[in-house]
Amino acid sequence: MRRTNNEELVFTKNTMPKTEEKALELMSEKNVLEALRFHRSFPQYSVTPLHDLKEFANHLGLGSVYVKDESYRFGLNAFKVLGGSFAMVKYISLQTGIPVDELSYKVLSSKKFKDSMGQYTFYSATDGNHGRGVAWAANKLGQKAVIRMPRGSAKTRLNNIRKENADAEILDLNYDECVRYVNDMAKKDPHGVMVQDTAWRGYTDIPGWIMQGYGTLSIEADRQMIANGCEYPTHIFIQAGVGSLAGSVAGYFADKYKDHKPVICVVEAGSADCLRRSAERGDGKVVRVRGKLDTIMAGLSCGAPCTIGWDILKNVAEGFAGTPDWMSAMGTRIYGVPLDGDPQITSGESGSVTMGFLYSLMMYKRYEAVRKYLGLNKKSRVLLVSTEGNTDPVRFREVVWCGLYGIRHRGEEWIK
Ligand SMILES: Cc1ncc(COP(=O)(O)O)c(C=O)c1O
Repeated sequence: MRRTNNEELVFTKNTMPKTEEKALELMSEKNVLEALRFHRSFPQYSVTPLHDLKEFANHLGLGSVYVKDESYRFGLNAFKVLGGSFAMVKYISLQTGIPVDELSYKVLSSKKFKDSMGQYTFYSATDGNHGRGVAWAANKLGQKAVIRMPRGSAKTRLNNIRKENADAEILDLNYDECVRYVNDMAKKDPHGVMVQDTAWRGYTDIPGWIMQGYGTLSIEADRQMIANGCEYPTHIFIQAGVGSLAGSVAGYFADKYKDHKPVICVVEAGSADCLRRSAERGDGKVVRVRGKLDTIMAGLSCGAPCTIGWDILKNVAEGFAGTPDWMSAMGTRIYGVPLDGDPQITSGESGSVTMGFLYSLMMYKRYEAVRKYLGLNKKSRVLLVSTEGNTDPVRFREVVWCGLYGIRHRGEEWIK
């Protein structure tokens, strides 16, 4: 397939040698349940919707298409808060010796607990969603947050973080440089704790807890599908920046459904496709993408894979897709203007790309080989996660109202 990162899909099959699945245990149902129990203690908690796009599935010739809609998460418009909040409670549990089960929202936010615990400052680098989650949780628990964002970050996202009383700024650095910068800041602060949503050598505890925290969305979706009469998904398309979320979702379902593991496809922005390139390299080692990492998918604009996520994905993912911006914009419009009978979904740039990818695979002749490789057909039960709502409302309107990143129709290529 052609290789022009931001114009065309680039797909890589997973042909890497399998290694010991030691990271999978992290995402076992038992570990994820601890996160779910903690999140349930928040007054803002409710199960986010799982939409069943019946008409859409029928239209594409698929069995079913389920969409977990994370725009409803804690009123924050994205799934990210699940990770940061759980990592914080795990950290506090470790420091205080009090088990997580005894550290509910009520306990953590009580004056008595705050006075006895003292003051931490939680540091993080973010494109927006993760930092907002960390700032929100720190604020609720009476702690401080310092957030730095890479160049090009949206003002609305910065302002939303500042509204949570965080010290937040946009720096003239790309995402990976920003992470290193903030890590140095945290190290210099005697009360500083780096809460980063990616792992590297020597930094694994917090990102591991963050992945377990994301597990709340998987366990909810799993239970919702079962309640809907769907035993388990046959396919999961999951977006990736550093791959913590993808590793979390893939890990949960691969561990739970060992006997009929779903076909898992990791979906990245073509200009920041570090996981796909790592798969292309083929020996299980990671590849970094450097430079500007330009894409409208701000949450996926990351060039360095999360090592824990990668350990899971290299073993359980079927394939890796580097997608162009127009696929994300297409996904946003499909969600926004559903077929009669299907629900309308508000999905931002990083949330919608798996939908644009699925639609393109089913509709374009030129992607037939990928569609066949993934085995998409009338029996497929596909799970997508819309990971964010309109977290950048200006960009969202440009995409939906003005047709930004539209596609040029080449009618002869449609299958249907
Ligand atoms: C909305 C959204 N979706 C997906 C992701 C990807 O998550 P990860 O970086 O863990 O791969 C992010 C990351 O910030 C995000 O904000």
